[in-house]
Formats: sequence, structure tokens, C-alpha cells
Amino acid sequence: MRLRRKAWARPELESDPKVIYNPMHYKENWQEAFGNNHPVHLELGCGRGQFINQCAELNPHINYIAIDLYDEVLVKALRKINEKALHNVRVIPMNIAKLESIFKHDQIEKIYINFCNPWPSRRHHHKRLTHPQFLSVYKKLMKDHSEIWFKTDDDELFKDSSKYFAEAGFIEKYRTFDLHQSEFTENIKTEYEEKFSNQGVKIKFGIFVVNKGRQN
Ligand SMILES: C[S@@+](CC[C@H](N)C(=O)[O-])C[C@H]1O[C@@H](n2cnc3c(N)ncnc32)[C@H](O)[C@@H]1O
Repeated sequence: MRLRRKAWARPELESDPKVIYNPMHYKENWQEAFGNNHPVHLELGCGRGQFINQCAELNPHINYIAIDLYDEVLVKALRKINEKALHNVRVIPMNIAKLESIFKHDQIEKIYINFCNPWPSRRHHHKRLTHPQFLSVYKKLMKDHSEIWFKTDDDELFKDSSKYFAEAGFIEKYRTFDLHQSEFTENIKTEYEEKFSNQGVKIKFGIFVVNKGRQN
């Protein structure tokens, strides 16, 4: 996603209590950030927030955390949250590489990874959000038997990621190379998903289950 820096984005984010700038404060107690003990689901690299906003609207008893690096997209996500007056979404501007600093073990009940950068060059594979190094962190922070839902337009990333999930000890529950023609009916489209499918690209989708009993 190519972004022009916008000076007004940071003050707008900073003025809204749904944007969390000190996420480490909640590491031991995310219930405090939401004022309830509902399950916590994350979207890693939420972009402009189309997906997480629809999830939050449909599932008021789930607490959603939307993470992205860039203020310029998060501000769009925040505006959607406020337009719908959603109380079950929090926004965190941060690098996903630091996830372990803000969650303790066995806290997260679902992670969504939607259209992350495919990093096609071999020397960049370690930056993929589905690389085994990332997966082993997610696994620690997630509850046993919870799920990662992963969507991409990229064939190579999808094939490699299926191997990464197996290597990291996840169980593959579901996989399709053409989500929109599949029998999977629970899909909520992301912004990038709409863009790619309008170009005729098939959307790849998998559900991978945490199994803490399995070695990686
Ligand atoms: C291609 S966009 C996809 C946006 C959205 N998930 C969708 O499907 O429409 C990927 C997003 O991931 C974010 N991102 C990439 N690497 C990240 C990282 N290490 N930490 C936080 N966000 C990251 C980017 O800023 C970008 O907004």
C-alpha cells in the first residue's frame, strides 16, 4: 500500500480513546481496554478497516483489535468505527513484529491475516506475516484450538504458507484456492479482496488451528 504522509492523521488518532498508544499497559489485562471479558480477535495489517468494521458490527460480543503500521490507513479505519458507533474495536498503530510485547500467552482467540505483503524474494521471506518465526509467536499468544484465518491473492505465498503453518505445528482445517467459488459462506470481503477479485484474481483462503500439543 503506497501512502502519502498526512500530518493531520496522528492528531486525529491521538484524540480518540479507541486508539491505543500504550498497548503494553494492557498486556496482562485486555479486558480493561474493552470494559468486558469477551473473546479477543486480531486483524494483522488491517489497512483501512473495511473487514474488521464489518466483523465488529456482526459480532458485538467479540472484542476486535486492528493493528497496522500506518496512521494514514488507521485514520480511515477509525472513521468507519465511529460512523457505525462500534464499541468493540480498538486500533493499535504498531509493528506486528512487536506483538509479543503486548499480549501474554493464551490470550487471543482468533487472528485474521488478510492480503499481507507476499515478499516474493527469498531473502525477504522472513518478513512474511505467515513465516514460521511469526507463526511461533502467534501460537504462544493464542489459546489452544483457536484459529488463524488467512486470505491472499498470491499463489506462491499461499503454497509456502501452508507449509509454514504445518512446520509451526498448526492443523489445517480448511483450504481453498478459489474462495468465492467455494462452499465457504461466512466470508467477509476485505478492501484488497474486492480489488483483486475485480481483476479476476482467485482468492486463496485457509483456516489453521493452534495445536499446542504438537511440537514445531
Ligand atoms: C495489502 S494491505 C491489506 C489491507 C487489508 N488487510 C485488506 O485486506 O484490505 C497490508 C497492510 O498490512 C500493513 N502491514 C504490513 N506489514 C506490517 C507490519 N509489520 N506491522 C503492521 N502492519 C503491517 C500495511 O501497512 C498495510 O496496511
